[in-house]
Amino acid sequence: MKKKLIAGNWKMNGSLAANDKLLKDILAGLGQAACQMAVGVPAVYLSQCQALLAGTAIDLAAQDISAHEVGAYTGEISGAMLKEFGVRYVIVGHSERRQYHGETDEVVALKAQRALGCGITPIVCVGETLAEREAGKTDEVVKRQLAAVIHTNGHCISEVVVAYEPVWAIGTGKTATPEMAQQVHAVLRAQLKAASDHADRIKLLYGGSMNAANAASLLAQPDIDGGLIGGAALKAQDFLTIIAAAH
Ligand code: PGA
Repeated sequence: MKKKLIAGNWKMNGSLAANDKLLKDILAGLGQAACQMAVGVPAVYLSQCQALLAGTAIDLAAQDISAHEVGAYTGEISGAMLKEFGVRYVIVGHSERRQYHGETDEVVALKAQRALGCGITPIVCVGETLAEREAGKTDEVVKRQLAAVIHTNGHCISEVVVAYEPVWAIGTGKTATPEMAQQVHAVLRAQLKAASDHADRIKLLYGGSMNAANAASLLAQPDIDGGLIGGAALKAQDFLTIIAAAH
């Protein structure tokens, strides 16, 4: 059976001291986990976290990657640079990047391509806003976002992880019900099946106020293969509870 993936997204949180404590607390409480695990840390802390996680079962993730390979792109970080710090996953197309940094579906698709080219697994985020959901456009929006990634990446699409993150559920405490999430995951799975013979092995994560209390019921859905966790990933005990629910 496909292992689930629980990935933390720390966003712009942390400090040298806080990261040290959080990761040590998580590692101390981690038994034999049945799932795969990762933490997505701010780029400046990759080196610190790489050292703290060396030899453990928790992989390192970055929160963004440049769509370019190398050169005059001030402030950007390339896939090759991430790779040097042991990064296994990179979050691409998070709604906060789409919203605050103007990332289009095409840019997101190129970032996913760049990650795959460097041997890093992109965690491609898709999701509708509240207005889009209320207008009955959820399926149309997530399919459009995923279609761009499929179009650019061809048969490599089976190597990506997809995270369904309804924008209205992120950081708001409003979680999609397990049924609502499953419904969208089924739509995404069908779209991936049409594009790849290996769609069943693609991990589809749910993200958006997943927490210690609701993780088990979300993770029990047939097409939910893990979670992308924001706020609850900053609390060791909550993150551990979510990990324990992923089997
Ligand atoms: P949240 O964030 O769990 O705090 O809602 C999830 C995310 O944005 O990845």
